[in-house]
Amino acid sequence: MTKILTLTLNPSIDKSTNIDALIPEQKLRCTTPKYEPGGGGINVSRALSKLGTTSKALYFSGGHTGEIFDELIALENIEYQRVAIKGNTRENMIVLETSSNKQYRFGMDGPTIETQEWQNLLDEIAKMQGLEFLVGSGSLAPGLPVDFYARLAKIATKINAKFILDTSGEPLQAAAKEGVYLLKPNIGELANMCGLEELRTEQIKEKALEIIVKGNCKMVVVSLGPQGAILVTKDEYIKIPAPTVKKRSTVGAGDSMVAGMVHQLSKAKSVKEIGMFGVACGSAATMNYGTELCKKEDVETLYAWIEKQV
Ligand SMILES: Nc1ncnc2c1ncn2[C@@H]1O[C@H](COP(=O)(O)OP(=O)(O)OP(=O)(O)O)[C@@H](O)[C@H]1O
Ligand SMILES: [Mg+2]
Repeated sequence: MTKILTLTLNPSIDKSTNIDALIPEQKLRCTTPKYEPGGGGINVSRALSKLGTTSKALYFSGGHTGEIFDELIALENIEYQRVAIKGNTRENMIVLETSSNKQYRFGMDGPTIETQEWQNLLDEIAKMQGLEFLVGSGSLAPGLPVDFYARLAKIATKINAKFILDTSGEPLQAAAKEGVYLLKPNIGELANMCGLEELRTEQIKEKALEIIVKGNCKMVVVSLGPQGAILVTKDEYIKIPAPTVKKRSTVGAGDSMVAGMVHQLSKAKSVKEIGMFGVACGSAATMNYGTELCKKEDVETLYAWIEKQV
């Protein structure tokens, strides 16, 4: 029985290649590409698997690229279930210019999801029994209503699952009003939610509390990149510093952090232990190249350091 379900509404085939120098108007010689399945929820499921926790990834896929995506996901150490769509699953391109060590990330638009297709996904979730955690991560695909995550929040309440959400903009705002168990905005996303250009760390507590009270949310974890995170509940305010690490790639730091927190939630850990482990996983992810996410042994070392600070 699935206890943890992650959702990826706009998955992608991530194609990575290396090139000497990115020069216009020339034929460029790239190395043999590496193909990986990408998208917020998929990353959360991959990171959970690295931590030793089983989850299922539910995602949309379609067209000939969707078939490739399904093959790629089958190679990962995760459970998965697709919801079929007519459109072609999108492809992204990641080019590393080796002469400068700069990474160029080309993101393409995803296919438009038809009403019946997204309704199918909602129906799949609504009939799931025994689901304890529902994790939404990433942007909405074209065609999805702006209140899509808010609808999921409603379904989560109905089936008695805890909803964990990492997204931005209006979809985040709408869902927060409906009620989300754990929200993980970064500070920019939180500012945006409050209709502000930017936010000072001293303002986080007040703003997070407003969200908690208005939407009956349980926890808001505001990530601060290399500064770590601030965790707010109705009764708690915990500042968690991030360790200094040798940063290689920040791809998936947020998703690894979410995975860390879900891992702890599934073990019924305390609020503080949830936050500290999340930061440890986020920072551990930055120590690896590309889309490797966090390694369990790094997480354990960093967690031990964080525990001494908080
Ligand atoms: N440079 C860094 N050094 C150490 N830890 C970091 C660094 N950048 C990010 N982290 C860790 O990752 C967590 C999440 O990072 P961040 O606040 O950048 O999330 P995000 O903006 O949602 O990222 P993403 O781009 O993955 O969505 C931080 O709380 C921290 O633990
Ligand atoms: Mg993020």
